[in-house]
Amino acid sequence: MRVAEPTSYNIRSTPYYLFPAFIKNTAVFISEKMDTYGDFFEVKLPGREILAVANADVLQHILVRNETNYIKSRYYWQQLKAIIGNALGTLEGDEWLLMRKLHAKALGNAKTTTYLFNINADIHNYLHQWKAYKNSTVDIIALFAEMNVAILLQALFGYENKAICATIASLVGAGQKHILWRSKYPWRPFLSNFSGKDRKYDSSLIFFENLAIDILKNRTNSTGDIEKLIDILIEKSNHAGSVSFIKELRSELIVYLGAGTETAAVGLGWIIYLLAKNRDKLDCLRADILKVTGGNPVGADHLSDLVYADYVVKEGLRLYSPSHTIARDALEDDYINGITIHKGASVFISSYALHRNPAYWRAPLDFIPERFEAAPVKYSYIPFGAGRHTCIGRYLATPMLVLTLASFVQQFDFELEDDEVPLPESGSTLKPHKPILITLKTLN
Ligand code: HEM
Repeated sequence: MRVAEPTSYNIRSTPYYLFPAFIKNTAVFISEKMDTYGDFFEVKLPGREILAVANADVLQHILVRNETNYIKSRYYWQQLKAIIGNALGTLEGDEWLLMRKLHAKALGNAKTTTYLFNINADIHNYLHQWKAYKNSTVDIIALFAEMNVAILLQALFGYENKAICATIASLVGAGQKHILWRSKYPWRPFLSNFSGKDRKYDSSLIFFENLAIDILKNRTNSTGDIEKLIDILIEKSNHAGSVSFIKELRSELIVYLGAGTETAAVGLGWIIYLLAKNRDKLDCLRADILKVTGGNPVGADHLSDLVYADYVVKEGLRLYSPSHTIARDALEDDYINGITIHKGASVFISSYALHRNPAYWRAPLDFIPERFEAAPVKYSYIPFGAGRHTCIGRYLATPMLVLTLASFVQQFDFELEDDEVPLPESGSTLKPHKPILITLKTLN
């Protein structure tokens, strides 16, 4: 990989009145203001130090070189912790490290290849069902979200119950919206608590507790090589089946389904949008899939040859990075290239802005999957984050996206329902401001 030239920074600040725009649509704000304020700047707010980052060298310092000086920000993950308690996504320090090592046994690169056959079968099942939507208009992100819930429940928890996957997807979305709302201003957690807004979320917690109980009763036991996350969680617990274990499992379910389903669905939704707008790239994609499969259904064993599909996925995640912003709080004063990041400062690292930074990307706004024939500048491409908290599900997510995309375009053609350009909004994921509606046509 090429390494970006070190630069020296002259940090600039946005005026106070722009803060509401920053909090409303963080990733897009950082990307738009980068032209004026540079790719490392301060967002002015009285009493708080807030820094926006779309620079590879600065993010490498924060997420990797000096990662122990930063914790997941009070923005989002800390709020999630207040509601669901301890889980991989909400812990820090030694407790987190122990848990991370344990969970990595189920989610490492070699391990996840053992899940691919089942994942591919789930994808084919869902696509087969979608044939019923022939010539109808569908909300493609909602469809992918439901499918991803089924895939993850199977792959991680050995559990199958397709009837509840759409409900789970919508509860996950609503829960994330609530957590994000709670974390935008410091008074909201109190307001949320006293006004009863939090209690509305209690019924979701009970739903996930019941799901945990049902998983313990009805999961398929793994054998041999396929030791799933659920087996590892049960194995390390001395009290599997107890109330406290059920609560623990509930929290992990919320974290994993929250982190792994809408992200992948939103990513795929934007990719379908980009392909609908770039039919020449869709033709290249179909031609490459035909070359690899010889016209047979896409199988898990085709994965390593689906090179163009991999480029399309990478380019989609570049332009519309589903986890658009990684937020951290500084534990102590830190220094980078003459700039002090003070203890307590919040740093918002926007992959959305980074991936559109012309310092690293030629024609950054254009959809050019072929650009991934060459490796990007180091740390200029971080759809799955970087450093110790980097996405633990990334070895599962990429094959899931490539296999889904390849089978989808092999079986369906699609057209956008209207010409209105969907605008990215920085929610818990980078959703479009309105659903991506497409008309589905079957190809075979
Ligand atoms: C396109 C799909 C996905 C994207 C873009 C994505 C992105 C990310 C990013 C950027 C982070 C780092 C957050 C931070 O540093 O604060 C992260 C963490 C995480 N992701 Fe993913 N993710 C995806 C799919 C998945 C899947 C499929 C799973 C589950 C198998 C998953 C589980 C997690 C978990 C548990 C964490 C927290 C890790 C920790 O704190 O140690 N993600 N993800």
